[in-house]
Amino acid sequence: METRVTVTVPATTANLGPGFDSLGLALGLYNRLEAEFRAEPGWHLEIVGAGADTLPRDETNIVVEAMQRVFERGGNPPSGVRLRLTNEIPLARGLGSSAAARVAGLAAANALAQANLSEAELLRLAAELEGHPDNVVPAVCGGFTVTAMAGSQPLYVRFDPPSGLRAVIAVPDFELPTAQARAALPETYSRADAVHNLSRTALVVAALASERLDLLRAAMEDRIHQPYRLPLIPGAEEVLAVALEAGALGVALSGAGPTLLALTAENAAAIAQAMQSTWAQHGIQCTAREVGIEKGGLRVVSTPQVEFAAL
Ligand code: HSE
Repeated sequence: METRVTVTVPATTANLGPGFDSLGLALGLYNRLEAEFRAEPGWHLEIVGAGADTLPRDETNIVVEAMQRVFERGGNPPSGVRLRLTNEIPLARGLGSSAAARVAGLAAANALAQANLSEAELLRLAAELEGHPDNVVPAVCGGFTVTAMAGSQPLYVRFDPPSGLRAVIAVPDFELPTAQARAALPETYSRADAVHNLSRTALVVAALASERLDLLRAAMEDRIHQPYRLPLIPGAEEVLAVALEAGALGVALSGAGPTLLALTAENAAAIAQAMQSTWAQHGIQCTAREVGIEKGGLRVVSTPQVEFAAL
């Protein structure tokens, strides 16, 4: 009997302020990929949810690109592959949608082709496709992750953040492609900015590891990317400020933006409301809400193949 693989991958918020290209946290929003080999040649994609109207359904889709990367490593490529993507993670909003897509493709191909990729190999391929490791690592491992690149290999430590920690995300109704947000950054930084960020990155990790949530406000300040990116997002500085006034423990641009992140222990609904109404005053519609912190990360389930329609 042929196999159907179902892969679930969480959204992720990267950087957490100062930890550019290093820190990441998995969130309770998910993309699901169902994949199976077919006798009819070619790629057959169905897309539901985010990107259903815009994402390509051919070999330029990044899920397909990731699957092909696994098939290229050896064995016989299948003649046809059928995919159904059910996307909860909004696109190009700084919530790791591309990392989730790539991890899903790699994991599905690994299971279908029985390629026996180790977790380290999967992370290496995912980081290479993505260009930075801080979304793909928590997407695979869940929880809070600290990652450094050793050549092309992500090295990481994950741990569960304090159980009382809550995440609020304010997702505006426009996209900011990561490539554009990365192009806004300078090539070089002063020693003062480097010390500011490396000390605060270490402090974010230590604060979460030792439940010193009172330190997050100062620890999450950043001088490496947010000063250059926030001006691309009307009202963003003010939305972050009102989140702190409403009781957030720390705030940041989520990944490359434009989503804004608040970490809190209480009053999540009031913080979300304050962020949403402040952005509305700038003429920007957003969806602001609490999301869970995902501890598990990537899930891969193989089942005997049945017709998609029967599900
Ligand atoms: N660390 C990356 C960046 C994350 O800030 O560009 C992109 O989601």
